[in-house]
Amino acid sequence: MKVRVDPERCEGHSRCHALAPDLFVLDDFGNATAASDGRVPPGLEDKARLAVANCPEYAVEIVEDAG
Ligand code: F3S
Repeated sequence: MKVRVDPERCEGHSRCHALAPDLFVLDDFGNATAASDGRVPPGLEDKARLAVANCPEYAVEIVEDAG
C-alpha cells in the first residue's frame, strides 16, 4: 500500500500528519507530501485510511501497489 497527496488539492490542514506522522512530511506552509516514497509500513494501514478519511480537501489517496 502507498499513500499519495495531491498537491493541487492540499491546503495545508496538516491533519494527515497529526494522525499519521510517520506517513507524511509537512513543508514550511504545512502542506503535506508522502514520506518514504509513499510506502506504508506494515501495521500503519489503518492510519493511512484515517488520513484519507480526515483530509478536508480529499487530497490524500491510497494507491495499491501493483506487485
Ligand atoms: Fe493537506 Fe489534507 Fe494533509 S489538506 S496537509 S493533505 S490533511
